[in-house]
Amino acid sequence: MIEMTQNINQNWAAHVQANAEVGVTCYTCHRGQPVPNNVWFRVSPVNSNVAGWSANQNRVTMVSNFTSLPSDYLETYLLADADGQYAQIAVHDLESRVQQQPGDPLIQQTERTYAFMNYFANSLGVNCVFCHNSRAFYDPGQVTPQWATAGLGIIMVQEQLEQYILPLQDVLPAERLGPVYADVPKLACRTCHQGEQQPLNGLNVIRNWPELAVLDDLPDYSAFE
Ligand code: HEC
Ligand code: HEC
Ligand code: HEC
Repeated sequence: MIEMTQNINQNWAAHVQANAEVGVTCYTCHRGQPVPNNVWFRVSPVNSNVAGWSANQNRVTMVSNFTSLPSDYLETYLLADADGQYAQIAVHDLESRVQQQPGDPLIQQTERTYAFMNYFANSLGVNCVFCHNSRAFYDPGQVTPQWATAGLGIIMVQEQLEQYILPLQDVLPAERLGPVYADVPKLACRTCHQGEQQPLNGLNVIRNWPELAVLDDLPDYSAFE
């Protein structure tokens, strides 16, 4: 946990120092709880007969925010598959989908992207236009600066899960593990943001904790001299 916090602050400053320069400490996620609120667990596959297409869809779950959208979007986009690859989020272009071409995304992939984007919006307490021009979701030339920060956030979360969280699988006691697949509690956007554009409303939490700001360097105490 200490190393993960240091890694986020040192190597992902382009995200966690992007704007108000707030950084991250234990409190950003934990807020007084041994296991933070807003962690998530794997839900899929439902059973082997429906693997592939169920996507845990049309079920009343908190992960889908009680919509009919898929509930398996966090594990699909934030965890690597067996080959170390991450699923592609992009689904939108200006070509007709009437004649399904090879490589065209399926409606299920579009729904999953939409579920993930709803999660972004709810995690930050914003709407789609905080990041996109909603007339042109496909066009990276018509996005806000926050789109780029969010894009880095996706890779940052993938890395923390892979390097620091998944390896805790064998360390945590059974009662900490998930209800369906006994997997470790996992973090994502909402674990830090908790409904705010900047966690803790942009409070600078790292200033007083130089030890947590660096992973492989000595803390900088010059601000206290
Ligand atoms: C480790 C904690 C953490 C996680 C996880 C995290 N963020 Fe952030 N995020 C921050 C902090 C801290 C800031 C504020 C940085 C600043 O303004 O200096 C921030 C800022 C942002 C901003 C810019 C807000 C602005 O005011 O410009 C966006 C957009 C954003 N995050 C999206 C995301 C998305 C999307 C995810 C998940 C894929 C995510 N974040 C995951 C900590 C986190
Ligand atoms: C980016 C979010 C995040 C930050 C920052 C963070 N943690 Fe955690 N922490 C988690 C998550 C998620 C879990 C539960 C999952 C796990 O242990 O795999 C957890 C679990 C723990 C646990 C195990 C609790 C239990 O009873 O099972 C301890 C102890 C802990 N963290 C300490 C810390 C300390 C100390 C810091 C700061 C140096 C810190 N964490 C920073 C997300 C975070
Ligand atoms: C916090 C920023 C943020 C918010 C809010 C957000 N998005 Fe996104 N969205 C992104 C980023 C970043 C990507 C690109 C992800 C990637 O491909 O790596 C993306 C990708 C997409 C895509 C795929 C684009 C393509 O090229 O096919 C669609 C569609 C989309 N978003 C729709 C939405 C909708 C609808 C909402 C509101 C419910 C929304 N987004 C809210 C940041 C955001």
